[in-house]
Amino acid sequence: MITNNLFYKVQSKKNDKALLATQFAPGNGYVGFRAVCDEDSDKTERGLFINGFYERIPMVHSEFAHGFPEVTDRMVKLPDWNSMDVFIDGVKLNPDDVLKRTYHFDLKSGVMEIASEYKNCTVISRKIADFEKPNYIASKTIIHGEGQIRAVLKFPLEVYSGERNRDPRKSGSEKLYKTHRFEKLENGFLGEFKTLNSNLISRITQKVVSNGTSFIQTENEMEVTAVSNLEIDRITLVEDSIRGFYQNSVDRKYADIKKAQTEYLARFWEENFVVLNTENNNYQKYLNFLIYHLLQATARDKYSNISAKGLTGDGYEGHYFWDTEIYMYPVWLVKDPDRAKTLLEYRYHILDYARKRSKELGYNKGATYAWRTISGIECSGYMPAGTAQYHLSGDIAYAAISYYFATGDYRALVDYIFEMVFETARTFYEIGNFTDDKFHINAVTGPDEYTAIVNDNYYTNAIAKYNFEWAVKLYKLIETTSKDDLNKLIEKLRIEKEEVTNFQNAFEAMVLLTDDKALIDIQDNSFVQKELWPDESVYDPSEGLSDDHEPLLMNYHPLIIYRHKILKQVEVVLAHFLLKDYTNKIKVDNSFYYYKALTTHDSSLSYCIHSLMGLKVGFDRADDYFLNSLELDIKNLHGNTADGMHMANIGGAIMNVLYGYLGMHVKADFMEINPVTTDRINGIETVFHYNDSKFLIKTGDKTELSLLAGEGAKFSVRGKEYTVTKDNPNVVHGDKAVLFDLDGVLTDTGELHYQAWKKLMNDEFAIDLPVKYKDLVRGISRLESMELILTNELSDRSFSEERKVELANRKNEIYKSLIEHFTPDDLYDGVEDLLKGLKKEGVFIALCSSSKNGGHLIYRLGIDNYFDAVVNPSFIERGKPAPDIFEKALKMLGVNAENAIGVEDAEAGIQAINSANIRSVGFGDNDMLKEADVVFDNISDLSRCLLNWSEDKNGWN
Ligand code: BG6
Ligand code: MG
Repeated sequence: MITNNLFYKVQSKKNDKALLATQFAPGNGYVGFRAVCDEDSDKTERGLFINGFYERIPMVHSEFAHGFPEVTDRMVKLPDWNSMDVFIDGVKLNPDDVLKRTYHFDLKSGVMEIASEYKNCTVISRKIADFEKPNYIASKTIIHGEGQIRAVLKFPLEVYSGERNRDPRKSGSEKLYKTHRFEKLENGFLGEFKTLNSNLISRITQKVVSNGTSFIQTENEMEVTAVSNLEIDRITLVEDSIRGFYQNSVDRKYADIKKAQTEYLARFWEENFVVLNTENNNYQKYLNFLIYHLLQATARDKYSNISAKGLTGDGYEGHYFWDTEIYMYPVWLVKDPDRAKTLLEYRYHILDYARKRSKELGYNKGATYAWRTISGIECSGYMPAGTAQYHLSGDIAYAAISYYFATGDYRALVDYIFEMVFETARTFYEIGNFTDDKFHINAVTGPDEYTAIVNDNYYTNAIAKYNFEWAVKLYKLIETTSKDDLNKLIEKLRIEKEEVTNFQNAFEAMVLLTDDKALIDIQDNSFVQKELWPDESVYDPSEGLSDDHEPLLMNYHPLIIYRHKILKQVEVVLAHFLLKDYTNKIKVDNSFYYYKALTTHDSSLSYCIHSLMGLKVGFDRADDYFLNSLELDIKNLHGNTADGMHMANIGGAIMNVLYGYLGMHVKADFMEINPVTTDRINGIETVFHYNDSKFLIKTGDKTELSLLAGEGAKFSVRGKEYTVTKDNPNVVHGDKAVLFDLDGVLTDTGELHYQAWKKLMNDEFAIDLPVKYKDLVRGISRLESMELILTNELSDRSFSEERKVELANRKNEIYKSLIEHFTPDDLYDGVEDLLKGLKKEGVFIALCSSSKNGGHLIYRLGIDNYFDAVVNPSFIERGKPAPDIFEKALKMLGVNAENAIGVEDAEAGIQAINSANIRSVGFGDNDMLKEADVVFDNISDLSRCLLNWSEDKNGWN
């Protein structure tokens, strides 16, 4: 497939050493090490990490409380045997005297190279973290210079562990291991390093091959010399006592490892390359690099996972968080389900720790996963933003359930998925309570860590609701598939029948806080009453995305932060991504803007999901947010990439493509695909996996799906069902859209708008407003209507702008009281069938109403979920008859004008549609709507026309 542009290259600046050591760190999911040029033997930036290899150190609390963890895991920084001192004619090379240094990562061969030019020599350092056999690292050093070259290879036993710092995102500085064994080998060394408390052993064996003429091996150094050209290959074998030692040979060749690496990556990119149809090459280049980093960080076995910084640094102590299940795992779920499975197996592997943790926390049943951990134990010392984040257990259940949806792997379901889902459901049942027939979960923290220990947190409750829902559904599914399987599980988990009933009840009664006036979902039951943060500059920086306010967590006591209506990152909006069926389209739209405006984005987990959800709500800066998350580590936007790559953001950026631009959503029986194109991203092409089959997807003006391998699967592209099978391997879905006006088209509010104006004019000026105004104000905005009425009816008087606004607001209050009791019964007959019919054909539906009450009204009418886009007239500069609102809808949907139809009941509306070069359909009076391409006066004729067009029958009228 398409594998152009697969490189990553930067020229270094001297002071970027720590940053570059992270960005160019090679890794293979098992082992990773920081990128430093070989001739620099300074240990400060160096470090080698084994995924899942940890030390346990005491956790000191000055005030202890029951259930607080007393020990914590920490990823161990191990010595990196890649450095050397280089001497040219006896003079030691100072790496700081470099004239030019270039870092280069070849993503096709998996070779990281640092090339340094000095006055009298060049040094090239190449590194491979072997994907094929992850215990190996291959290194090549090439030194060219005038004269005698001498290299003193280092085999250090100690590492530099940094200093204790107040930044909670960094690691500590304690000594974590002692040298257990150190031996000289023929042309190499073997070192064993044993952790002090966890008693784990890592073994590093290295063999050196060189063209150098003399080898002198001293205590822990080796000397190699040559004239003018010295090449040194170092093959390193890394093993540990968690996985066992297999005495694999170090007699491998650099060239062979490179060949195997290239072949491995050819297979990898074949499946994982994501083509962005864009003119901005940076998007593509950065995305390639991030996909590669995710690969490098992803665990290879059940003993490990993806740590917050991957294997590029020891920030966050190498811990695994919910980041995996919500930000990274979803990428592999559709790209490489086997990798997703390995990540799940890790969670199953530590399930007993989670069970134990539930007991420590005072509950009889269930499994409470540790907020941060390596081995499985709770490693969070700050309970409000750690242990209290119970949602993590639900996130794991969510991921496990989606694995079953994505693969249909019944064996995995019975072998471990059900067990995890049932145990986490038990946890939520234990920590929640029924009060007043509602199920509440109190004293938890959601993903937004600027709000802690609250009741009925929306995200937690939603994920728990889902956990209950699927614990019951999976129980029933196994029951119908195999009674025997179910009985074994009942016995193993000691399931009591009433538990299943309890879960069903909790599912049904779960509180999801919502505001039916503002039409937003509410973060928790304390959120609304909090005050705003006084300095508004910390909120969503709408212009420069990387504003430079320091994260609040660095400068304020947590309690100050908790007392304000302020978010570190997405929360309700994230719940809307994961669990859209628990809410409404209009609440998704409104919540997005409401919470975005209160978010500091102090977490690197924020912009990526705002971009992803922004694409779904038609947010016009979604591309910018996407770019921001692509650049976060590449441009060091948070200033702390030196501590390690931000893996969740990396996964989030890739998710943006898969779940945002491609609009994938893995459901129980089919996959939804709702692609979005934007100004900058005109389409995507990539391979994905679903239902044990492999597909190619291409988006743009149309969506094309092709079966590449397997039996096929069911899809819903924009609501239209497609079954892609061997007999029907290619599907093409053309994008079409119907853009509806609301008042007078879907429901009869024209009369009510008139009644409201009439009452206003009567109350204020004792004027009896003639009925002709019913048509005159049709389609035009509130203020323009006011203007028109005042100029016509009270031409002798002048009104200040303020007064006009005040009068228009009064009219709105009257109008709102008239529509307050609107229900689905107030829809015109046949409208819902029309919307359903269009959805079934996969047609986009958008609302283009001048009314600021439009969103509210379609919610009351119960039809908001049919809409793919609801244009907010407040964001539109020029009202109808200007084309703006219809053009905006096309942009939000990524549909061309020639594939759209607009429906209007007002003259101004028809003019707006026509100026947007869209086909116009009038609904109502032929005389008034004569500029329309066609006019209907009843819904059945209108429906027939639109549905025929959607099915491509008989042209379009
Ligand atoms: C349009 C109506 O849909 O919305 C107009 O046809 C009305 O009559 C306009 O003035 C603005 O509505 P609102 O609800 O924002 O006052
Ligand atoms: Mg109208």
